[in-house]
Amino acid sequence: MNTVNSIQALREQVLGWKKAGERVALIPTMGNLHDGHLELVRRAQGVADRTVVSIFVNPLQFGEGEDFGSYPRTLEADSDKLAGINTDLVFAPTVKEMYPKPQSEQTRVEVPLISDILCGESRPGHFVGVATVVCKLINMALPDVAVFGEKDFQQLMVIRRMAEDLCLPVEIMGVSTVREADGLARSSRNGYLTREERAIAPALYRVLQQTAESIRSGKRDYATLEAQANQTLKETGLTPDYFKIRRAADLTEPLDGDQQLVMLAAAYLGKARLIDNMTLDLA
Ligand code: PAF
Repeated sequence: MNTVNSIQALREQVLGWKKAGERVALIPTMGNLHDGHLELVRRAQGVADRTVVSIFVNPLQFGEGEDFGSYPRTLEADSDKLAGINTDLVFAPTVKEMYPKPQSEQTRVEVPLISDILCGESRPGHFVGVATVVCKLINMALPDVAVFGEKDFQQLMVIRRMAEDLCLPVEIMGVSTVREADGLARSSRNGYLTREERAIAPALYRVLQQTAESIRSGKRDYATLEAQANQTLKETGLTPDYFKIRRAADLTEPLDGDQQLVMLAAAYLGKARLIDNMTLDLA
């Protein structure tokens, strides 16, 4: 497995593969890789001949007071894990390589409306940072397919819209969330949890499951279900940011008779901000 730091070296390698008729998958990450990331690579290997994993902690998607400075950077351990599952190439650029100009002069990609709700409301500018870096990474790596986890449901939706609206010649593939045995979604930020907090954290998934049960059993007063979910999260020791039941197609509020729903939740626990979601098909 090769690691490159420059856009030029990345392009040369990818174009060589493409010339040979090979299909290339890009898996964008911020590193500190866990089983969820490795599953993205494995799934990419099922649909492409070559896999490129980018590792870049993107300053543009962190707000003031967020964990950009302390976000774990573990390139050596990440490289070992990726080599162990036969990843073809790691792209680990510096901030200067990704953003040669000062941030204030950087062209940005904005996916309106959907970027401003839920996580976007709590983290202003976050999805502009995500859309911008993903657009750049796709233009740098020129993959046939780019792979993302469904744990970041809203992020995946923003990226799909961006790719569609900007006519990016790439397929966007989502991969199901990988969970710990107790249901907690795998996330690099789980590493921030103390032992006590780690024992509390699976409540987020349990409340999603309980609310799904209520909806499946016929309850349709979504505002009450959301309030109950928030209350249960608080009683368990989490500080909910939001718990929302939305239409899966566009994250707007469900209308009577909507059958494809998604429940999205975010909650603070110690130094971590945890997110999770669950889709519901009522058809
Ligand atoms: O999900 C992430 O790890 C990041 O938001 C992404 C997609 C790699 C962009 O920096």
